[in-house]
Amino acid sequence: MPYNNVVVLTGAGISAESGIKTFRDNNGLWENHAVEDVATPEAFRRNPDLVYDFYNQRRRQLLSPDIKANEAHVALAEFERRFTGDFLLVTQNIDDLHERAGSQNVLHMHGELLQSRCCHSQRIVNTLTDVTQSSRCNCCNPAQALRPNIVWFGEMPMFMDEIEKALSKADLFVAIGTSGQVYPAAGFVAQANYYGAHSVEVNLVASDVHSQFKEHYQGNATEAVPAFFNALLKDS
Ligand code: APR
Repeated sequence: MPYNNVVVLTGAGISAESGIKTFRDNNGLWENHAVEDVATPEAFRRNPDLVYDFYNQRRRQLLSPDIKANEAHVALAEFERRFTGDFLLVTQNIDDLHERAGSQNVLHMHGELLQSRCCHSQRIVNTLTDVTQSSRCNCCNPAQALRPNIVWFGEMPMFMDEIEKALSKADLFVAIGTSGQVYPAAGFVAQANYYGAHSVEVNLVASDVHSQFKEHYQGNATEAVPAFFNALLKDS
């Protein structure tokens, strides 16, 4: 295999076939809510109950028995297990389907649905049940309110230093199921190209940054991702 440092970026499209709605394939509504009504610090200040309820509903859906990791998540985990070079999986997704498939080195740059954060200490706790205005942390005295550990619009994505460092060393960058409409993730391909990496887009349709990729695979993630990564392993 010609590569030693692989960075993969995933978006909502890799979880679409698991039954988790994407953001922009349903006329821009997110579970029938305008993003600014549920995914901004202002929305949380203005109407905390709506925001808590929105994420509680998505958490319940994620934890329901019919939501499972799909063949694309599994193919990435299998590649990471067998690849002898450096591998980093950066996801914009807040679901845990990569982890359920067995992925180890995963950075959730937009946070995680199964985590909450203390509004005072910022300490993160795992969350499998509903969180409301009356939920309290166990790290402060007196106990403080909790918020979803989600990066809202206007907030800084997580792990950016680690991601930029990995992109500067990558010789292969693969973006899967992301529309390329939200920065800084949409700018990762330009960084990877700048540092001399080969760049590949795997998507159902061309993303907004399609032209910046050197190679494209069009199709459903559950078919295109296993095909691409299994072929890569065969080259090794
Ligand atoms: N296989 C592959 N790609 C798919 C599939 C599929 N079965 N279904 C949809 N897609 C692709 C779409 O073509 C689109 O490019 O997934 C992408 C989904 O785009 P978005 O809904 O914009 O999701 P994403 O790119 O992850 O959004 C980025 O925006 O709303 C914020 O924080 C949120 O992390 C999210 C960020």
